[in-house]
Amino acid sequence: MKQVISISLGSSANNYEFQTTFLGQKFKIRRIGTNGDYDKVVDLLVQLDTEADAFGLGSVKLPTPNKHNTLINLASSLLDYVRDDSAKITKLRSRLKTPVTTGDHLISVAQEWAIRSLQFEHNGYFSNARVLFLSGMTNYRMAKVMSEFTENLTFADPVIDNGISKFLHSFKDLDLYGKGLHDILKWIPSKRLTSSAIPLKKWNTYILRKAVQKAHIIVVPYHNFYDYVGDCTPEDLAGKTIITSTAYDDRIEFLKNHGVDVIIDTTPKLLKRVVGVNVLEALVIAALGKKQHQIKDEEMLELMSSTKTGLRPRLVYPSGKPKQISRFAFVIHPLSQEQFKLEKTVKPFVKIPGAIDAVEKVVAYAPPWVYSKVTGIKSPAGVEAEGWLITVGGTPKQMLSHSPEFTYKRLLMAARMAKRLGAQIMGLGAFTKVVGDAGVTVANKADIPITTGNSYSASGALWAAADAVRRMGLIQIEEGKKIKGKTMVFGATGAIGSVCCRLLAMAFDEVYLCGRNIIKLMALKESILAETPDVKLHTIVNPDKHLHDMDVIVTATSGMGKKILDITKVKPGCVITDVARPLDLSPKDVAKRPDVLVIESGEILLPGNPKMKDIGLPPKVAYACLAETIVLALDRRFEVFTIGRDIEWEKVKTIYKMGLKHGMKLAAISGVNGVFSDKDIEKVRDLALEARKKNKTGKKKKGTKSPALD
Ligand SMILES: NC(=O)c1ccc[n+]([C@@H]2O[C@H](COP(=O)([O-])OP(=O)(O)OC[C@H]3O[C@@H](n4cnc5c(N)ncnc54)[C@H](OP(=O)(O)O)[C@@H]3O)[C@@H](O)[C@H]2O)c1
Repeated sequence: MKQVISISLGSSANNYEFQTTFLGQKFKIRRIGTNGDYDKVVDLLVQLDTEADAFGLGSVKLPTPNKHNTLINLASSLLDYVRDDSAKITKLRSRLKTPVTTGDHLISVAQEWAIRSLQFEHNGYFSNARVLFLSGMTNYRMAKVMSEFTENLTFADPVIDNGISKFLHSFKDLDLYGKGLHDILKWIPSKRLTSSAIPLKKWNTYILRKAVQKAHIIVVPYHNFYDYVGDCTPEDLAGKTIITSTAYDDRIEFLKNHGVDVIIDTTPKLLKRVVGVNVLEALVIAALGKKQHQIKDEEMLELMSSTKTGLRPRLVYPSGKPKQISRFAFVIHPLSQEQFKLEKTVKPFVKIPGAIDAVEKVVAYAPPWVYSKVTGIKSPAGVEAEGWLITVGGTPKQMLSHSPEFTYKRLLMAARMAKRLGAQIMGLGAFTKVVGDAGVTVANKADIPITTGNSYSASGALWAAADAVRRMGLIQIEEGKKIKGKTMVFGATGAIGSVCCRLLAMAFDEVYLCGRNIIKLMALKESILAETPDVKLHTIVNPDKHLHDMDVIVTATSGMGKKILDITKVKPGCVITDVARPLDLSPKDVAKRPDVLVIESGEILLPGNPKMKDIGLPPKVAYACLAETIVLALDRRFEVFTIGRDIEWEKVKTIYKMGLKHGMKLAAISGVNGVFSDKDIEKVRDLALEARKKNKTGKKKKGTKSPALD
């Protein structure tokens, strides 16, 4: 039987001895703690040299110059070398017959594997995450891999190792720092002085805490674990993901008590019990019967994969349930001058002639800013999402009065901001995707995936329309059959309008495609007939004479509040879904027809307990385009989804189904005066029936006046 002996500077109270089988060979594994006594470590190594097949050294850090070692590390290691007893061990190591390892090779291979496999299995686990390395030098190889997935890297090495109040923010900087070439190193000569100065120490502790709080993921070195995080409070660590190696029970307990969400232990679990990584590497060396330097990365990986659970990094969820939070950003903008008037700083100037116009113009030039953090979205599928609402300053009027490039520029600034915040996808709200090419340029130039949200806006609009039609009960709906009714879409050639036409063509007998350009309308008609031949389609530019015949109308223009349709001509009991923002129908128009149900498109009720600042909707309710961004984040579909004006029908179906999977519900349908209760709808229905009766008995002549106007 082969024997692996781990000699540790740690406490002898944790000693153990057990037998195991690894790669078909029997092993006896022993741990001997020396309670911090270096001389005892040296004595034991000499004494047991003939007994052991491989030694593991626990809690011992040896200066081992290799390609990852750096001048800084070497410098500090060499200082230790002179002062420390580790020098004795290093000297002795070359004289021993038995190979000696601290487990560093296995750690670095396992770390790279853990990061790559998690990134792949969890579809972008680390994408754009804000990662803080408490020691980039110690976790150099992991940092290098991580830099492939996120640019939001922070390295605390200068602060922790040298008392310099500066962080490094890229792998390139870490590399230069490691080679001793980074500017920051100019500060080093004064290191001893500066780090002992109390105010500076306090400042460093403060900035370190802030960096911990800002990070999504914190990488804690295996050695001296508590030196790095022992002083952290739950306020610092709550909700974080911690990556470390060999997470012993006490470390797990510590992190659990500090509210950590996820612990990623990169050490492979080759044995049933958690043992030091030095033991595992010693086991591998003894099993292969090779010298330590002869073992290649590939060999190490192959060995790990030969055990059942060996290759999986260990994911510990202190709450007992898997937890993963995706991050999104969504761009909003003021819809009109009215919104400025509500601002405290603007209110005093409202009455000054021209003041609001001036504010509107100036704010349009402002760089984007974060309006609200969004938290608490939790899908029944177990995943969570959080995000940021980023606002650009332009109202629709301002956006249209400048070239599209004016808006693109601000949207790209917003995308950069979103990326820095850690968002993995960004959605474009309301008019930000109406100007120019509907998100195409922004998606091409931004560094994070973009979606306009229009697929879900279209499906949400019709979801709401279907709900309203069902509740009104004026149209007969037979399961599996097309609805015998007439529908009309305003803005039919637009991104949302065209999808609405396609969906209505599948559900209704007749659809009127209404727009301003007859050629565009004809092309749309052709393409719909190719998909849905059994529908009667009409292309119209003058809708008025058909309005009295429509059962359902969808209006999705970018007319910016201009009068689009004459509501006085609409059939009593008609359901109008107003998707446009600003709305196509003013409250004044809506009030003219109490016998018509005008709903404000399909808003979505978010799952969980979402919290965000007021966006003009009831609590927990979001615009469908915002909901699309959230659904994609929850499903970890970090990809350009809906862009351009040709929305793919497949995507509309996909996002609808994905939304259901993640607990999205249609919010209570609402109109200009808020949510419609069943009683409100009943009232509209009664008035409609009354008006229809009057029309039949010949009281009406041209058009259809509302009963309120009779
Ligand atoms: N409720 C929500 O959650 C939500 C989400 C996203 C967008 N929206 C809103 O939905 C609307 C449509 O967005 P979209 O992305 O589909 O825009 P889009 O692709 O630009 O389409 C707009 C359509 O409106 C037509 N139009 C523009 N001005 C008009 C006018 N004065 N009279 C008649 N038709 C006019 C255009 O016709 P031409 O082809 O002839 O130019 C075009 O067909 C916008 O108001 C947007 O803010 C709402």
